[in-house]
Amino acid sequence: MVYGCASKTSSLKINENIKPAILTLELSEGKVLYAKNCAECHKLYEPKSYSAEEWKSILQEMKENTELDEDQVMKVYNYLIMN
Ligand code: HEC
Repeated sequence: MVYGCASKTSSLKINENIKPAILTLELSEGKVLYAKNCAECHKLYEPKSYSAEEWKSILQEMKENTELDEDQVMKVYNYLIMN
């Protein structure tokens, strides 16, 4: 009983340690994709300029202007709403 509880806690800790590294990598990828693909027609908008909801609909439209696939759009989206 105590044992099961203890191992649960330690596996949670491992996940918490891994997550920020993945997140940071994905976010920097998103940032690069954003800077490369979204500054051709207009200046880069500040991530803070729009809410997550607004970015969602903006990206729906703007992705048609770019070569970005769904996966890459998600990375750009994550970058934009984390900043
Ligand atoms: C082919 C050209 C083109 C590309 C590439 C492009 N956009 Fe745009 N974008 C426009 C045009 C045209 C507008 C209309 C207003 C303007 O000219 O600033 C606009 C407007 C915007 C706005 C303002 C929306 C509003 O409601 O005020 C945002 C934010 C934006 N784009 C983000 C992006 C993002 C993020 C990307 C990359 C995924 C991107 N754009 C790529 C042409 C482009």
